[in-house]
Amino acid sequence: MSVTLVEPKKASKVRTVYARPAEYRRVYVWELPVRVYHWINAVTLVLLCVTGYLIGAPIRAFYAAEAYQQYWFGWVRFIHFVAAFIYVFNFLARLYWGFVGNKYAKWNAFFPLKKTQRQEIIDVIKADVLETKLHGPISTGHNALAGLIYFFTFLAFVAQTVTGFALYSSMSTSRLPRLFNWIVPLMGGEFGVRFWHHTFLWFFVTFVIVHVYLAFYHDYIEGRGTISSIVGGWKFEREKSDK
Ligand code: HEM
Ligand code: HEM
Repeated sequence: MSVTLVEPKKASKVRTVYARPAEYRRVYVWELPVRVYHWINAVTLVLLCVTGYLIGAPIRAFYAAEAYQQYWFGWVRFIHFVAAFIYVFNFLARLYWGFVGNKYAKWNAFFPLKKTQRQEIIDVIKADVLETKLHGPISTGHNALAGLIYFFTFLAFVAQTVTGFALYSSMSTSRLPRLFNWIVPLMGGEFGVRFWHHTFLWFFVTFVIVHVYLAFYHDYIEGRGTISSIVGGWKFEREKSDK
C-alpha cells in the first residue's frame, strides 16, 4: 500500500514512502454450529415471513381459481408449520451453544454487562451512525451494539414462537402446541394473538433488510472478510487487537 506523507521538518520535500504492510492474522470466530444455525435461521425465517404474509393477506386471484386448484393455501400453511418447527429447534440449539460455544458465541456477547461493551456501543453509534468520530478498535466477534440488537431479535423469536404455538394450539391435537393454549385468553382471545403474531412479521422484515445492508457495509468498510466469515468461520484481524 503506498501512502503519501508530508513530514513537518521537510514540508517542502513531499515524498512517497511505502508503509510497512499492516499485519493481519486469521481468527476462527464463528464455529460450525453458529454458522449452521445462522443459515437455517435465515432460510426458515424468510419462508415464515413469506408464508405468514400470505396467510394474513391471501392473494385474491387464487380464490378465483377452480376449487381443485385451491389447495395452494394448504401448502402455504404446511410450509409455515414445517419451517416453524425447524426454526424453533434450531433456535433452542443456538441457546445451548450460547453456554458451551467459544467466547464469540457465548451469551454474554449479547448483553452489555461490561463497561467496555457499553463504551463500545457509544463508539459504534458515534462512528457508524452519527459519523462524529473516527472508529476506535474494532471487535473480532459481534460489536457490542450488534450483539444487543441480536438479543432483541432473540426476544422477538421467543414472542413469535409463543404466539405461533398459541395460534396452533386450537388447530392441533399434538402435545407441544397444546401446552400453549393458556396464552390465547391471556392475550384477549385469538384476535389478540394473531394481531401480535402478524405485527412481529414487520419487525423481522425490517431487521433482515438492515442486517444484510450492514453485513455488506462492514465487509466493504473494514475489509476483514465479514461476509465470508459467516460462511467459512474465519475473519481477518489486525495483530494485537483481540477483543
Ligand atoms: C435473511 C435472514 C437473516 C437473519 C434472520 C440473520 C440473523 C442473524 C443473527 C441472529 C446473527 C447473530 C448470529 C449469532 O451469533 O448467533 C447474524 C450474524 C451475521 N449475519 Fe445474518 N441473518 C440473515 C441473513 C444474512 C445474510 C444474507 C448475510 C450475508 C450477506 C448475513 C451475514 C451475517 C454476518 C456476517 C453475521 C456476523 C455479524 C457480526 O459480526 O455481528 N446474514 N445474522
Ligand atoms: C418467526 C417467524 C414467524 C413469522 C414472521 C410468522 C408470521 C405469521 C403471519 C404474518 C401469520 C398470519 C397472521 C394473520 O394475520 O392471520 C402467521 C400465521 C400463523 N403462524 Fe406464524 N410466523 C412465524 C413463526 C411461527 C411459529 C414459530 C409458529 C409455531 C407453530 C407459527 C404458527 C402460525 C400459525 C398456527 C398461524 C395461523 C395459521 C392459520 O390461521 O391458518 N408461526 N404467521
